[in-house]
Amino acid sequence: MLNFNTEYESILFEDSLFEDKYLSPEVQANLHEGYKLYPLRSNDFERGYLDVLSVLTEVGAHSIDTWNTQFQFMKKHNDTYFTITIMDETTNRVAATGTILIEHKFVHKNGLVGHIEDIAVDSSHQGKKLGIRIIEALKFIGQATGCYKVILDCAIKNIPFYEKCGFSPKESQMAWYI
Ligand code: ACO
Repeated sequence: MLNFNTEYESILFEDSLFEDKYLSPEVQANLHEGYKLYPLRSNDFERGYLDVLSVLTEVGAHSIDTWNTQFQFMKKHNDTYFTITIMDETTNRVAATGTILIEHKFVHKNGLVGHIEDIAVDSSHQGKKLGIRIIEALKFIGQATGCYKVILDCAIKNIPFYEKCGFSPKESQMAWYI
């Protein structure tokens, strides 16, 4: 692992999860002033990424090492993991995040399916269209990578939100917890 002497050096050599070409220019342009779209970045641990995720579910106690292990795993598989953030540029904190996982299938002639996961908007930023922008940005990645469909599971209370994002209910969700 690289060691940096200063915070400046660590920002200078910061790793992005994937290339900027997967970031929707339209979503970037439609964000209110002071917000910016990014791929997940290696220093987002310090920018409160996990705090934002905690509005969704239990995140567990992380150290910088457990963060780096997971970030590097995702980076190694960055044709599969596309996690994005919307930054509050005034505070340099993560305001919203979401992920699309690209699944490679035999069906539909080696088709690709995008799975949207872990959508979270920090409670102080909810209701400002960041959720809808995150979904638009993930749909863009689904199209750019060649998916034939993009699917997600959600709580019943969130169905109206996803309908506003262009999704419609289809079949049922099942779960088996270990
Ligand atoms: N029910 C009904 N409508 C909603 C809801 C809701 N739960 N949430 C937002 N909307 C509507 C808004 O009123 C708005 O409507 P408008 O365009 O007519 O004004 C539109 O959806 C867009 O809303 P945003 O401002 O983009 O929503 P926000 O930024 O608050 O994000 C989200 C919504 C993601 C549900 C957010 O509240 C959140 O993080 N909640 C907690 C975590 C969560 O439940 N995440 C989803 C998990 S499912 C998954 O990860 C696949």
